[in-house]
Amino acid sequence: MKEINNNLHSACNEKLEVGAIGRFVKNLFKTKNPDEMIESANKGGLEKTLGAFDLIVLGVGAIIGSGIFTVVGIAAAGSPQSAGAGPALVISMVLASLACVFSAMCYSEFASMIPVAGSAYLYTYATMGEFLAWIVGWVLMLEYLVGYIAVANAWSGYLIQFLKGFPFLPSWLTNPPVWLVNDYSSAISALAKEGIDPTGVIPTIAGIPVAFNLPALLITILMAAILIRGIKESTNMAGLMVVIKLAVIALFVITGAFYVKPENWVPFAPNGFEGIFMGAFIIFFAYIGFDAIATAAEETKNPQKNLPIGIIGSLAVCTIIYVLVAIVLTGMVPINQIDAHAPIAHAMRLAGQDWVAGLISLGALTGLTSVLLVLMLAGTRILFAMSRDNYLPSILKTVHKKYKTPHVITIMTALICIFGSLFLNISTAAELCNFGTFTSFIIVCVAVLILRKTDPKRERPFRVPFSPLFPILGIVCCGGLMIYSMQFLTTSRFLFPLWLIIGIAIYLTYGYKKQRKTENNEK
Ligand code: ALA
Repeated sequence: MKEINNNLHSACNEKLEVGAIGRFVKNLFKTKNPDEMIESANKGGLEKTLGAFDLIVLGVGAIIGSGIFTVVGIAAAGSPQSAGAGPALVISMVLASLACVFSAMCYSEFASMIPVAGSAYLYTYATMGEFLAWIVGWVLMLEYLVGYIAVANAWSGYLIQFLKGFPFLPSWLTNPPVWLVNDYSSAISALAKEGIDPTGVIPTIAGIPVAFNLPALLITILMAAILIRGIKESTNMAGLMVVIKLAVIALFVITGAFYVKPENWVPFAPNGFEGIFMGAFIIFFAYIGFDAIATAAEETKNPQKNLPIGIIGSLAVCTIIYVLVAIVLTGMVPINQIDAHAPIAHAMRLAGQDWVAGLISLGALTGLTSVLLVLMLAGTRILFAMSRDNYLPSILKTVHKKYKTPHVITIMTALICIFGSLFLNISTAAELCNFGTFTSFIIVCVAVLILRKTDPKRERPFRVPFSPLFPILGIVCCGGLMIYSMQFLTTSRFLFPLWLIIGIAIYLTYGYKKQRKTENNEK
């Protein structure tokens, strides 16, 4: 069987023409044999400790975070750049979750068939070749690392809110200087809001104004340390955090239900389809994370069965929770009074339930911490897979002797996140993360269709039902939301193509050559 597959893949690779350009094109589309991937993963040395329940916990840990604790307010009430969905937020949520469900099934088909740490990056390598695989790895950095930066930003904001609840604490803790808890652009806009001239407030080093988010930096160091310690320990920790965040959300839904006024649901969609679609694009951020489960494939027991359960199960749990939150939130608060920063806690304050609001802030902080943990975990596992393919210096694929975790990559990832959080504000980071995720989802849906044609006999413990319809619907939902939103957004719609161009340039000047060198050494 393995031999047939090897022949099939070399046959595909042979078909492309020879000659300088022909060779170049042939290399771009050179696929990797899934059996070799599995074999090299088995040699990888990562310990298999995760079961289906661990994966659902990991998924819910990755999914429920700043999306439902922060971004939901912008999706419902709108922002200067996008119209709000209003009470029709519940429709936006279902739309976003549909885009995810089709993609989740495609992820499950691959994850059960090729259970390796590289997730979408390797699925693309197996189907569309080296160049697109690199691009997917590159956009996954947007999803996991830039997404991490967005969540770390929200975490820092919630921490300050939480500390403000303790008036006996010193004022440098409850009211820190704005340049010490924000990236530069957020610090400028926070000062502008209060009519303060930033020149005298933000310090400079060699004439360059300096602002950095100290809480985000500290939590990043902590997350890296936990991840180096071990994945099982990390998921145990995520488990505790998941329980706390689910408890506070349940508290919100149950208490809030008593304060729902049905008249707040009218008009249902104040900004029509524009509000609903932009709401869906924005709230999509709240669903990101289920795909991170696939990156823990090599550390999963019986991955063929457990990965689909983990991926689809965690998405289903979160969709139900989100729909309930949307119904209660928009029923409790008139749309023009929904808060953009901490909408759920604010709704409880408006209802006079200050103690519930306090608990919600604590739960949000915990929830965001678990998201940070899983996003960093996923980012490191993609980089690990890319370094195994020799795209990155070989020192990066070192696994810690005692803890059996890729510690060098984890430290590098933490440094990238710290550096990025100096420059990116939360909304640009979240939008970029959405663009990266939509792109990887679309490519995974396409990859399922391709592998069904090129390798129909391969054993698929989980199959996307109604193929090709469901993968095509995944492509249409993700692509549609992405293209629709581009007409309204500003910074991110330029940064995203720029990110792609930089990725292509690095591949052509470095990655492509590195691959050829590796091939020559192997001959
Ligand atoms: N889904 C994650 C969150 O909402 C990224 O924070």
